[in-house]
Amino acid sequence: MDRSARLYERARRAVASGVNSPVRHYDPYPFFAERAAGGAVWDADGRRYVDLCGAYGAMLLGHRNAAVVSAVSRQLRRGTLYCMPTAEETELAELISRDYPSMRRVRLVNTGLEATMAAIRLARGHTGRPKIVKFDGCYHGAHDYALVRAGSGVAHYGLADSAGSLRAAARQTRVARYNDAASLEAAMDDGVAAVIVEPVMANMGVIPPRRGFLRSVARIARSHGALLIFDETVTGYRLGRGGAQGAYGVRPDITTLGKALGGGLPIAALGGRRDVMESLAPMGPVYEASTFAGNPVSVAAAIASVREAARLGARLYARLDRECAALASSVSDAAASRGIAHTVNRAGSMFQVFFSDAPVTDRDSAMAADRARFARLAALLRERGVFVPPSQFEASFLCHAHTRADLARA
Ligand SMILES: Cc1ncc(COP(=O)(O)O)c(C=O)c1O
Repeated sequence: MDRSARLYERARRAVASGVNSPVRHYDPYPFFAERAAGGAVWDADGRRYVDLCGAYGAMLLGHRNAAVVSAVSRQLRRGTLYCMPTAEETELAELISRDYPSMRRVRLVNTGLEATMAAIRLARGHTGRPKIVKFDGCYHGAHDYALVRAGSGVAHYGLADSAGSLRAAARQTRVARYNDAASLEAAMDDGVAAVIVEPVMANMGVIPPRRGFLRSVARIARSHGALLIFDETVTGYRLGRGGAQGAYGVRPDITTLGKALGGGLPIAALGGRRDVMESLAPMGPVYEASTFAGNPVSVAAAIASVREAARLGARLYARLDRECAALASSVSDAAASRGIAHTVNRAGSMFQVFFSDAPVTDRDSAMAADRARFARLAALLRERGVFVPPSQFEASFLCHAHTRADLARA
């Protein structure tokens, strides 16, 4: 029995369901991480894996990026939590507004969940309307407003939503089909406060928007007086410094960021139009609060990470895009040469393989792929020292720190 197996047995007796987030489990037991550096992670038995999970997209710069580590170390010497405003919080908000001009005012929170929950409440409070429209398979965090036909672990475990979620909340959430503007039009009425979308779906595997789809979403939302929320928890600082809104040229009313923003520490943000954001308390009537919001350690990491992305500039994203395209096409060539039906979807530095010969453009086509085969592929890759998220409904991510040798191994 290896050490991970023993650690898992122990965890099963102490940690609810053995893991602190469902997507971390796979059969027969997950390996336990011991340490990470650059583009690699080591398990409790000392085995090294090329890390294509990258903490589900958070590690854009790689593990233990020098600029992030030294900013965090500096901050640790100055204190970990004040619960008072700091100059650095403002500096980070200014940097975010520079990279995301649609985010005229910014509020810092801790997780993507908090960011989308606050964004939805803000949209309701600002418009005075009760409903939201989301897209089938999009995941916006584990809260009642958005746990409706969600992707990620919810789809992986075959749940439609979650036991215990309030039906009254779910009834106010309508679902449209991704990449299908007509289905959004059909879901709209004058009671809809906001349309929320992952501009590139990253929680049913990777599903890019069809040409013109995001513009149609913006047009339809606005024609009904609803706000447009881009959930860029994954795509922010990932598809480019300006996220999906920069890449596709669509300006949302509210944006959420998370994951890559923090260089591996927990931090997220929501931001948007000035008039909308000023509906937040204490100036406005929409309440949102957290003890740890804007905590100085995460803020230091985020400033370092955002500055590093700016320093590396467009070259960073161009290289990641090139390397990911090459990896995706070599995966595709390998499958084709063995006569295996497959589709590889990619956007920038994220990609996913589906064992299906039909195009994967929405939740239904992703669900039709052969998931058992994908699980076998993920297990085989682990045996060969490459870690990809073990679920079909996640994405693989390249990072700045992956070496040529890492990519060749993958
Ligand atoms: C698009 C999207 N939104 C929101 C979230 C929730 O973020 P967190 O896990 O930080 O709460 C996720 C998490 O995977 C996500 O992918």
